[in-house]
Amino acid sequence: MGKETSDFRYNTGATKVPWAAVGENYNLQDTMEFVKFLMGGKGKEYNAALKEVGTALANLSKVSTPPGKLSMGDKVAEVEKMIDKYLGVEEGSSLFVSNCTAALELGYRYAGIGPGDEVIVPSNTFIATVAYPLSVGAKLVFADVDPVTVNIDPKDIAKKITKKTKIIVPVHIGGYPCDMDAIMKLARKHDIVVMEDAAHGFGGEYKGRKLGTIGHFGCFSFHEVKNCTSLGEGGVFVSNVKAYRGEARRARFLGVDFSSKIKNWLYNISLIKGKGDVVYQASNNASVTEIQAIALMQQVKRYGRILAERKREATYMTKRLSGVPGILPQDLGNADMKPTFHLYQLQIDPKIVGGDVQTLKAKLEEKGVTNIPHFGPIYRFAASIGRGFDEKKIAKTCPVTEYVFDKCYTHLPIYGLTKDQLKFMADAIIESVAEMRAGK
Ligand SMILES: Cc1ncc(COP(=O)(O)O)c(C=O)c1O
Repeated sequence: MGKETSDFRYNTGATKVPWAAVGENYNLQDTMEFVKFLMGGKGKEYNAALKEVGTALANLSKVSTPPGKLSMGDKVAEVEKMIDKYLGVEEGSSLFVSNCTAALELGYRYAGIGPGDEVIVPSNTFIATVAYPLSVGAKLVFADVDPVTVNIDPKDIAKKITKKTKIIVPVHIGGYPCDMDAIMKLARKHDIVVMEDAAHGFGGEYKGRKLGTIGHFGCFSFHEVKNCTSLGEGGVFVSNVKAYRGEARRARFLGVDFSSKIKNWLYNISLIKGKGDVVYQASNNASVTEIQAIALMQQVKRYGRILAERKREATYMTKRLSGVPGILPQDLGNADMKPTFHLYQLQIDPKIVGGDVQTLKAKLEEKGVTNIPHFGPIYRFAASIGRGFDEKKIAKTCPVTEYVFDKCYTHLPIYGLTKDQLKFMADAIIESVAEMRAGK
């Protein structure tokens, strides 16, 4: 039997002297440690159950064989197909990568972002959205946000587009859809790439299309805090640009190209072709493991239930908070706008409440409602200022961000809470706002 097709790290299959892809397999003790980590506990009952698992695993280990590959194998290919289907995109559009930050880099590199190029981003997001352009000396142009959704405001994007704008990166904050029609219209008019930062948006919908599938590219995060996860870290890059799919696939692993070989060697390293005359050398290894792929598939299988639960919890909170003077609860969406409720967004009207959200946050913390850290205006960070961005000047171009961030807006925990916890939180908000209105 001949060798199976292989690359330089692959299991060479059935042969007299094989080359195993996995240098050191995991044994029974290792597997027990995984079980103990993923299903921890203590006490008599736990210890007895664990002992039973130990016996069962020991029996299994006598008759089982370890996996032939741990990195970038069939399971990774399988989850990519599953995600293509879930998102309703062409097969081959989704690429499973190490995290959303790595996915975003693939889109920025397609657009050829370098020093001086302008990148339109929302003023208020996580640093990952802008890390690549900031690191290469591009000019971040901060678009102000919509006062209700706190998503990037297309009207402000329109004002800030110049001849140097190469990419617009809308972020579906908290999983609430951005106004994609307006953004895509601007992008078409000016021939600008759109990359959706859908880190919070997996499964959300805008006018019948899944978030992350509307722009040229979409990037998802499967970090542990997101709605579903691939064992703590992971991301997906979705490409609507057909010609870039294979390029991005190679860029995921340093540009290694198994479709071509140099003399006496197993592969080639090719440059990656982006938009127009953009060509670059991939510099990242964003590979993922088979275990991560299995973990993600399992969570995607029950994702409908996860989204439904988040929606139920958000609906309860919004019902409780609606009609309370000065409180603006999370919008629950409609047939055209289906949020993922990754975050429950709460706003207050400081003029009605008689105080700002910083006071509300302190009161909630005192009462025992956790304060979730949320995203700060990027232009306030030392890294942005150090790159030459003038905080005060930019703040003047983002008046809504300044007002809403300081005075109105916060996130609440939502998922996995009991009915009692949700009730306690709603009561605490209503009470705190009443205290503020009474000048207490
Ligand atoms: C808006 C946004 N974009 C990108 C990311 C980066 O995701 P990852 O941790 O998978 O790199 C995050 C992570 O929280 C995020 O909140």
